[in-house]
Amino acid sequence: MKVLITGCAGYIGSITSQTCLDNGYEVIGLDAFYTGFKKNIPAAVKVYEGDIADTDILQKIHLEHPDLDTVIHMAGFIEVAESVKEPEKYIENNFTKAKLMLDELIKLKFKNIIFSSTAAVYGMPKELSAIPESSELKPINPYGESKLMFEEYLREKADEINHIIFRFFNVAGAYDNLGECHEPETHLIPLILDFALEQRKSFALFGTDYPSHDGTAVRDYIHVRDLAKAHVNALKEFSNSSANLNQAYNLGYGKGFSVKEIIENIEKVLALKLDYERKDRRPGDPAYLVASPEKAKVKLSFEPDFNNIEKIISDAYNHRKLFWENKLSCKS
Ligand SMILES: NC(=O)c1ccc[n+]([C@@H]2O[C@H](COP(=O)([O-])OP(=O)(O)OC[C@H]3O[C@@H](n4cnc5c(N)ncnc54)[C@H](O)[C@@H]3O)[C@@H](O)[C@H]2O)c1
Repeated sequence: MKVLITGCAGYIGSITSQTCLDNGYEVIGLDAFYTGFKKNIPAAVKVYEGDIADTDILQKIHLEHPDLDTVIHMAGFIEVAESVKEPEKYIENNFTKAKLMLDELIKLKFKNIIFSSTAAVYGMPKELSAIPESSELKPINPYGESKLMFEEYLREKADEINHIIFRFFNVAGAYDNLGECHEPETHLIPLILDFALEQRKSFALFGTDYPSHDGTAVRDYIHVRDLAKAHVNALKEFSNSSANLNQAYNLGYGKGFSVKEIIENIEKVLALKLDYERKDRRPGDPAYLVASPEKAKVKLSFEPDFNNIEKIISDAYNHRKLFWENKLSCKS
C-alpha cells in the first residue's frame, strides 16, 4: 500500500508520514521546503523535492510509482496574519496550485485524496457551542477562504476523484523528535513553552473579556498523533466502501480549553509559575472554536489515544526542550 503525502517536511506532514510508515504504508513524499525542513522527513520516505503545481514532478512520481493512486494533501501556507497582509500568496498556493495538482492527479488516474482543511472555514461562529460540519462556512481571512475554495473544487470533482476533507482544529503535541517548528512560530503551546524555557523574552495573552467562563478565548486542541491516526483510518475507508467518502469531517476532541487554562496546565506540567503580559483582543480571533467530532467518530471509527491536555503539553515540551538543548534551528 502506497500513499503520496504533500507537505511531508512540515510539522503535521512529517508526523503523518511516520504514522503511515508505522502502519505498513510505503510513503512517497513531495515538498518544496518553503516552510518545512528536510531533517523532519522520516528516512524511509521516498522524497521528491518540488512544488505541488509542477506537473513534470507529478508525472515523474507517477512513472516511478504507477500503482500510486492516493494522496494526502497537506502542503500549504498556514499563517492567518500573513494571509491578511498577502492574500494573493495564499489563494495562489492553497487554491490555484492545489487545483493544478488535482487536475494533473486526475489525469494520472489517482482515485483518492485526503485534504487538510481547517476550522478557519467556519469563520467567527456566534454560538459558544461545538461546531458540527453542517455549520455555515464563512471564513473571515484569506487563509480560511483559500482552504474553502479548494474544498469546493473537490466537491465539484467528486465524480472524478474520491475525497475526504479533514477540518483540523488546533493541532499540538509531538511524536518523539518530530514536533512543531514554524518560523515564525504563532501557535499558542510552542510559544508559551519557549517562554517557559527562556527562549522568548515575553509572552502576551490577547483578550481577557471574551464571553467565555474566564474571559479568554477557547480552542479545541488535538494531539498531532491522533490527527495522523485519523488519516490512516481514512486511507482504509477508501478500500472498504464508498459510503463515507466525499464528505468533510472535523478533527478535534469536542472539548475546549481557554488560553488561561492552557497556561495553567503548562504551569502544572512544568511545575513553575509564568509571569506574562495581558493585552487587548486581536481582531479576527473568535471567542470559541470547538469541534463537534461525532461524525468522524461514527463514520470513520475515529477513536483518539491521546485526548489528554497534559500529554499534549508534555510531548510538546519534550520536543522543544530537546530542540533548545541541542541548539537546533528548524533546519538543522
Ligand atoms: N498546524 C495546525 O494547527 C493546522 C491547523 C489547521 C490546518 N492545518 C493544515 O495542515 C497542513 C499542514 O500544516 P503544518 O502545521 O504542518 O504546516 P507546515 O508549514 O509545517 O508544513 C507545510 C508544508 O507544506 C510545504 N509546502 C507548502 N506549499 C507547498 C507547495 N506549493 N509545494 C510543495 N510543498 C509546499 C511546506 O514546505 C511545508 O513543508 C496545512 O495545509 C495547514 O493548512 C494546520
